[in-house]
Amino acid sequence: MIPNHPPGKPDIAVIGSINMDLVLSVHRAPQIGETIIGKSMDMLPGGKGANQAVAAARLGGRTAMVGRIGSDPFGSQLRQSLSDSGVWTDRLRVSQTSTGIAIVTVQEDGDNHIIVIPGANGEMSEEDVKQNEDLIRQCEVVLVQLEIPLGTVRSAVRTARYCGKLVILDPAPAADLDVELLGMVDILVPNETEASHLTGQKVAGIEDAKLAASELLSRGVRQAVILKLGPHGALIATAKGFVHVEGFRVNAIDTTAAGDTFAGALAVALVEKKDLESAVRFANAAAALSTTAKGAQSSVPGRAVVENMLKRI
Ligand code: RIB
Repeated sequence: MIPNHPPGKPDIAVIGSINMDLVLSVHRAPQIGETIIGKSMDMLPGGKGANQAVAAARLGGRTAMVGRIGSDPFGSQLRQSLSDSGVWTDRLRVSQTSTGIAIVTVQEDGDNHIIVIPGANGEMSEEDVKQNEDLIRQCEVVLVQLEIPLGTVRSAVRTARYCGKLVILDPAPAADLDVELLGMVDILVPNETEASHLTGQKVAGIEDAKLAASELLSRGVRQAVILKLGPHGALIATAKGFVHVEGFRVNAIDTTAAGDTFAGALAVALVEKKDLESAVRFANAAAALSTTAKGAQSSVPGRAVVENMLKRI
């Protein structure tokens, strides 16, 4: 392991995926059987876990990343990109396989399609979690997503719960989650697609979101379901009821990693002991700003820009 972190302990541990994104800019996504001519291709650092770690670090959280890169040039570039953003990277492991890759197609309206080839992320094991139990014990918040094997996710969530940490699970990409797992999660942050997948109900708009979030709370999520509504902000559902926190109006050009930025920002705000509504407002601002620039990690805003936006509106 390469020592690379400032003295002291981290507040946030992100356990998840690290990808190199091959970003294809297109006028619109092709239909089945159709060939289209795209506009450009960029290679940019991504991966839901790494994006969330970068967001947390850039927004001021002392953040460590637990994940795997491959033994190839992408792996070294991605380690460097995390480190440049202030993420502690000494808990990254190098697998004897290729680094995770994502093909991200971004349309002119900013919406995207993503295909992930997990590579080294697929080798994240329960052993990786065990080896980092000391790190989990030091943190306050543990942030997990679903781009690593589900058994590893379960082990990460269980360990964090056992250590009494605040567990935030971003259920992306969408997958089936049982009540045992949901019952160990403090805060679940699905978007409409993921909430729809988890509940089997259509989720489009606030009223659907309320039904889905209630259903997920009834399956055992411990504190809150925060359902992300894209430009419409987010719905907070707790045992006390619902709060809709409005989104921020921006000129979105690329929505890649908006959800990741939201999760990282939320973790930072909760470490800073903001109440849930203020934390979601902070996360909404960061996520909205991330859609105004291209790429995943390349679009994550810094703290000052987010604070400015919160002051202006
Ligand atoms: O959430 C966006 C991310 O999803 C991209 O960076 C891509 O790597 C995929 O993991």
